[in-house]
Amino acid sequence: MSTKADPDILIRRATDADKPGILAALETVFGSATALQAERSWDWQWRLDPRLQTPGYQGVVAECQGRIVGNTATIPAGLAIAGTQVSAWWLINGLVLTDFRGRGLAKGLLDHPAAGEIQLAKHISEPMRAVCQRIGFDALPATGTRHRRVSTRHRLGQILGRALGDLTGTLIDPLLGPAPRPELPVSIHEGDFDARFATLWEAARAAYPAICRRDPALLRWRYHQHPDADARVLTLDDAAGLRGYCVIRVFERPGRPRRRRGMILDLLTAPADAPAQRSLLAAALAELRRERVERVTCFHAGAGSGARLAELGFTPMGTRTSATQPMLVRRLPPAGQALYATLGDGDGG
Ligand SMILES: CC(C)(COP(=O)(O)OP(=O)(O)OC[C@H]1O[C@@H](n2cnc3c(N)ncnc32)[C@H](O)[C@@H]1OP(=O)(O)O)[C@@H](O)C(=O)NCCC(=O)NCCS
Repeated sequence: MSTKADPDILIRRATDADKPGILAALETVFGSATALQAERSWDWQWRLDPRLQTPGYQGVVAECQGRIVGNTATIPAGLAIAGTQVSAWWLINGLVLTDFRGRGLAKGLLDHPAAGEIQLAKHISEPMRAVCQRIGFDALPATGTRHRRVSTRHRLGQILGRALGDLTGTLIDPLLGPAPRPELPVSIHEGDFDARFATLWEAARAAYPAICRRDPALLRWRYHQHPDADARVLTLDDAAGLRGYCVIRVFERPGRPRRRRGMILDLLTAPADAPAQRSLLAAALAELRRERVERVTCFHAGAGSGARLAELGFTPMGTRTSATQPMLVRRLPPAGQALYATLGDGDGG
């Protein structure tokens, strides 16, 4: 499809052969770190994802005289609504090169049939949010990113030395927010995502109004096969099997001073099992504190997950112009509006 204003620009389904052009565009718009990360994880993302029906890049590009000037990638969401599989896509890495902006290309990319029917997006920049709102995306209420401070020990250690920093931090950390002990026994899970995870997933798939795929194959791909593979899994067992799990990540953000950050990537229990959710989140927070993480972020959508995080002192993380960053969806049927999603969905962070 050519655009009206620019007959030289072709908006078309992307293929793996577009890789060099897409990486160049990512570098131009988002910088070299994003482009390098996309290159490093290319095969993992576009060959190994068990949701891909055919291997290879999925998305839409705008091409002008052989150059990629606009792009959006589409990750299959594996979405089940009321237990039935539907075709839905997470949109990531949307961009238009500066010289080509303001000509309707972003709109053209998102409207292209290859960008999929049901579209989901989180962590959307202000300009892209403006585009999405003009073309019929809706904000999902009570969704967004929350964060809280966890520990001062890492930062104080950088300033005062580890021993004195730890001592001072131990006194200050209780002032940073609630730190309840988990009421149920949560443990670190080192092994494979085994059959117990499959049983929990099958029950969750049927019980949640709408949820993206979390079977062992998907979890293995997402958390064990990832090129950085630094996720940690916490599990809560009971007599009947696995009652829930939580996945966290600890990482150092580049730059000086080096900051220690955490993410709560995934949390799965039965939808109304608030005690399990509370215990898993409390244990995750304790593990992040033990790891001297300074701040943790968590995306939440559905199943009261925002309220659970608020109980633990997490507050909404806004942007320059907005107090919250709700998820945006297009053509999501009403039955899907109670979608359950976490950071691990979509681009995974
Ligand atoms: C966001 C981005 C892709 C928009 O590209 P674009 O080609 O200029 O957008 P379009 O021309 O298709 O705009 C579609 C509509 O959104 C509006 N729009 C676009 N950018 C806007 C902005 N920054 N603020 C307000 N409205 C905006 C346009 O006016 C147009 O509205 P109209 O149809 O009523 O005229 C581009 O600015 C970009 O690449 N930004 C940097 C990367 C980025 O933020 N990516 C998103 C990551 S989540």
